[in-house]
Amino acid sequence: MKKDYKLPSLDDARKRNRELSQKLSFKLDDKYKDIGKGKKYFIITHGCQANQRDSETMAGILDTLGYESCDSEKKADVIIINTCAVRKGAEDKVLGEVGALKRLKYNKPDLIICLAGCMAQEEETVKIIMEKYRQVDIIFGTHNITSLPKLLYEVYTTKQRKIEVYSKMGDIVESVPVTRFMSHKAWVNIMYGCDKFCTYCIVPYTRGKERSRYKEDIIYEVEELVRQGYKEVCLLGQNVNAYGKDLSLDYTFGNLLNDVAATGIARIRFVTSHPWDFDDTMIQAIKNNPNIMPYIHLPIQSGNTEILKKMNRRYTREEYLSLFDKLKKELPGFAFTTDIIVGFPNESDEAFEDTLSAVEHCQFDNAFTFIYSPREGTPAAKFEDKIDRKTKEERLQRLNERVAYYANLNNQKFKDKVVEVLVDGLSKRNSNVYSGYTPENKLVNFTGNNVKTGDLVKVRITEVMSFSLNGELVE
Ligand code: 5AD
Ligand code: SF4
Repeated sequence: MKKDYKLPSLDDARKRNRELSQKLSFKLDDKYKDIGKGKKYFIITHGCQANQRDSETMAGILDTLGYESCDSEKKADVIIINTCAVRKGAEDKVLGEVGALKRLKYNKPDLIICLAGCMAQEEETVKIIMEKYRQVDIIFGTHNITSLPKLLYEVYTTKQRKIEVYSKMGDIVESVPVTRFMSHKAWVNIMYGCDKFCTYCIVPYTRGKERSRYKEDIIYEVEELVRQGYKEVCLLGQNVNAYGKDLSLDYTFGNLLNDVAATGIARIRFVTSHPWDFDDTMIQAIKNNPNIMPYIHLPIQSGNTEILKKMNRRYTREEYLSLFDKLKKELPGFAFTTDIIVGFPNESDEAFEDTLSAVEHCQFDNAFTFIYSPREGTPAAKFEDKIDRKTKEERLQRLNERVAYYANLNNQKFKDKVVEVLVDGLSKRNSNVYSGYTPENKLVNFTGNNVKTGDLVKVRITEVMSFSLNGELVE
């Protein structure tokens, strides 16, 4: 059967050139204004911070069109599922969710269901959705968020399903509306895409090439956030150390950190740092600015040089450990977290032991640990893998035990100490308790009165667990 839609292509998405990415400015065509009047939307977000920020852009665009947000799928006229493709588990969850929406659509035929994010960039996924999940009306990719008004308009006027997914390197679009989901902490994109092509990872294909926003646009955004009363910004990029390289302006991430710190925002965080190119300008900037938080996320992925090479991580075990030791020495009191993949194709027992011994060496404050998940279109998906699932699960469990041990050990330092907490609000688990984070990014649950979201308060830590701290407000 001939397809009347264009599928995304991972082959095209792999291409890279040295050209500077185009900077565009978002404009809303008059004919789309008010198409959302009287209608409600609901956005479900999966995956990383980049997706959280993209969902805020989608919300901003929908608000501009006159839609109103609502708090459940059932009340919505438009549902967007913003998806993650990093592991198969995340994808299966989304397909389950889309499946469950079928009944809702049956009872409410005017409901518009949209699939967005990284899964939309995968040709196989789009084929499956088009053939088996007919309840989905719109599929739009990570490069096509600003087409949302046009796509909605077309579905209303033609009653046809619409796909718009570009498999291209990507542009930089400024002046796009945004409705932030929090009033005290904000995500700020500093760059998009990734050129590292770690062999297991789908992100360079789904999010295009590494491209930096101009520093003026970033600083202006942070200054605006300060004016609006925001207390924290988190600078986002798949690999923030590469900031500015594509612009060739002799202005790197270290320079940007200094300029963002000069805005006076109370707290600055950044994710993710690749161990590659964690340079001295960065370290100096982090040291010199007290509003840059004492927390660094530095993914190791594996502690074995051979596996790291197969992963195309561009560093050896020794290089990672020596960078880690240098950071630990230069930045005392900082918390360090990491990402680790176990069960990469043909990971031997010895290779896994190397990962464990790297964990013993670094004693991370926390680690996000994953079993390798083959991603179609990536080089590692074709690697031979003789390791069975059970072995991988046992390795994950052994690793998690050591991670929890060191997480707990690191947290012991905080027992009976008074820490500063930026309050997120009432705890999700217990409505008599507030929660927030310390500068080191430790989750604190505490009791107290007259506290509100966005307050910076002092809390005495009374109890220490592996992944959170309990305490009481210091009056
Ligand atoms: N399988 C398992 N984990 C993965 N990650 C990325 N791709 C995969 C994959 N195919 C992990 C890495 C990365 C984190 C965001 O997700 O550890 O740092
Ligand atoms: Fe994926 Fe590697 Fe890029 Fe991170 S640096 S997004 S793991 S390819």
